[in-house]
Amino acid sequence: MIDIKKVLDEKTEYADNVIKQYLPEEKGLQSVIMDAMNYSVMAGGKRLRPILLMEMALCFNGNADDVKPFMAMMEYIHTYSLVHDDLPAMDNDDFRRGKKTTHKQYGEAIGVLAGDALLNYAFETGISAALAFEDKERALKALSVIAKKAGIYGMIGGQVVDVINDGKEKSKEELDYINEYKTAALIQASMMAGAILAGVTDKRLTEIESAGLDIGLAFQIRDDILDVTSTDTELGKPVHSDEKNNKSTYVNLMGIEKAEEEVRRLSEIAIGRLKNIGIENEFIFELIRKLTYRNK
Ligand code: IPE
Ligand code: IPE
Ligand code: MG
Ligand code: MG
Ligand code: MG
Repeated sequence: MIDIKKVLDEKTEYADNVIKQYLPEEKGLQSVIMDAMNYSVMAGGKRLRPILLMEMALCFNGNADDVKPFMAMMEYIHTYSLVHDDLPAMDNDDFRRGKKTTHKQYGEAIGVLAGDALLNYAFETGISAALAFEDKERALKALSVIAKKAGIYGMIGGQVVDVINDGKEKSKEELDYINEYKTAALIQASMMAGAILAGVTDKRLTEIESAGLDIGLAFQIRDDILDVTSTDTELGKPVHSDEKNNKSTYVNLMGIEKAEEEVRRLSEIAIGRLKNIGIENEFIFELIRKLTYRNK
């Protein structure tokens, strides 16, 4: 048995360093934008997406060094999604990752631009990496998956369906649709990109996409539970944000206990799928289990 806490701490520190390595220098008359980007990215965070990307690459004998810029890319896209999610026009939250949100720290205009900048910079980072990647077709395929899963058929699509339904009661199917796109899509993209860069077969890739969906659905349900049961200090972001925005979630739909059960059920399905395609990475399995009872 691995010591999941210790190994996860080590991997998180590794991911932190990778993410830092590709951040832009704060220079030029526009240096405030680099400052705001670096502030939001380095404020902290679990680094789940880059860790999953690297681990999936390792599962298929990929090279950890070669996937580094793609790890950074995923965290920049994810961080941009958080910066925009917190804006007054969206969830209107003042704290994120234990610090003031980017728009609170730099004002709304720079908040919007910092999100835009992170998204564009993510692609600058990923495309440069693809140009230097030995197998260009794999790199291009990874970028294509990431682009699609971040966009209108992915995270942005989910955020749209989420915000246009504020104040409405939602069915399980509607909630699953929102959660699949707003949250699972970037988790799927991370896992798939890592595997693609390492040369996974198409058949296995489809299973990884399904596992990423289960992990992502579970992840968002747990996030919705923590919004009710946690504290601002523990979570690093305001609790009761969903209630404030009249968002119905799994917690409203079935109560906390049933929702927790669903998180565990989905996570075990995901682990089963990964085992079925021959993955034996104990760390990934324990990480998926740890996410089900995470407190932040
Ligand atoms: C928060 O993501 C937004 C959701 C998709 C629920 P994380 O919980 O991964 O946030 P960080 O990166 O650790 O701050
Ligand atoms: C947002 O879901 C998911 C994103 C795509 C950013 P939430 O609005 O529940 O995320 P938190 O709770 O603010 O992190
Ligand atoms: Mg939101
Ligand atoms: Mg939010
Ligand atoms: Mg939330």
